[in-house]
Amino acid sequence: MNLEDSLGLIHPTLAVAFVFPLIGIVVHYAWQTRQRRLHAKENGKSKIPPTVGSEHVKLGRWLSNAVVSVTLIGIAYPIFTKMAKNQVWTQDSFRAWFVVLMFAVTVASLVILNRASTKTWRAVFATLTGMGLIILGSQPEVYRRGEIFDFATKQWFTGEWYVSHYYSGIVAALLMIFSLAIISDIYKDRTNRWRTTHVILNCVAVLLFIGQGMTGTRDLLEIPLGWQETHLYKCDFANKTCPP
Ligand code: HEM
Ligand code: HEM
Repeated sequence: MNLEDSLGLIHPTLAVAFVFPLIGIVVHYAWQTRQRRLHAKENGKSKIPPTVGSEHVKLGRWLSNAVVSVTLIGIAYPIFTKMAKNQVWTQDSFRAWFVVLMFAVTVASLVILNRASTKTWRAVFATLTGMGLIILGSQPEVYRRGEIFDFATKQWFTGEWYVSHYYSGIVAALLMIFSLAIISDIYKDRTNRWRTTHVILNCVAVLLFIGQGMTGTRDLLEIPLGWQETHLYKCDFANKTCPP
């Protein structure tokens, strides 16, 4: 394994070692929070300690920040390795510096979102963080498994967006940003509308996380090691054949 291959392991390692354990803990507390609230509503008391709600939110904050950070690293790796290879720094230095600036703006927006106290600022910085992720993810270096233009037949192919590690990863990260933005709305709302919205959206997020586990390991299986690239890219991927 060369240095570039090893750097490619940073994102999966952080996801497996930090994000997925956090998901387990956050979901455990989420279940207890709900059970406790329902018990209390039914018979006024519950054996579940009152701290489960605040533990869920404390670790939920960590989870949201970890998912956005891991997503940024997942995007940064292909962008910077391919930019260096394709000499983008010298040939299109404006875009290269724009990308660096966007990373800084996105990280700063996430930090401020964590601290913002008014509704307006939370909306502004949640939007900025989300836009940062989308703009960075739209760079040509990021493999999205989406629409593909075949120059030979001059046709668009829909691609495999439904099993794309990119699209579901971005949606999961956006859901985490939304969770961060609505924390105080959940507490303030007496009709429980925000609470229900939160539960539905984050159940979707959990499914997307499971999907990320599958598509991420598939991608690790598919991406060749640096020294094998020139040989393997001679293969015909559509017909699944390789030269002898
Ligand atoms: C992993 C995904 C998550 C799931 C499945 C989930 C689910 C839940 C559930 C079931 C509840 C209890 C709802 C009820 O009382 O009926 C809850 C409460 C809450 N969640 Fe989450 N959640 C997740 C992540 C997060 C994150 C990332 C945050 C914050 C950044 C967060 C913030 C909150 C807040 C503020 C409450 C109210 C807590 C309370 O009543 O004390 N959740 N969530
Ligand atoms: C919280 C869960 C995860 C999120 C939100 C996430 C998000 C992303 C995003 C947005 C990208 C860039 C787009 C792309 O290249 O597909 C990416 C790349 C990647 N991720 Fe993940 N990911 C997660 C978990 C995982 C896991 C568990 C693995 C493997 C065990 C993994 C392996 C990869 C690989 C191999 C790449 C490709 C890097 C490249 O293009 O060279 N990811 N991830």
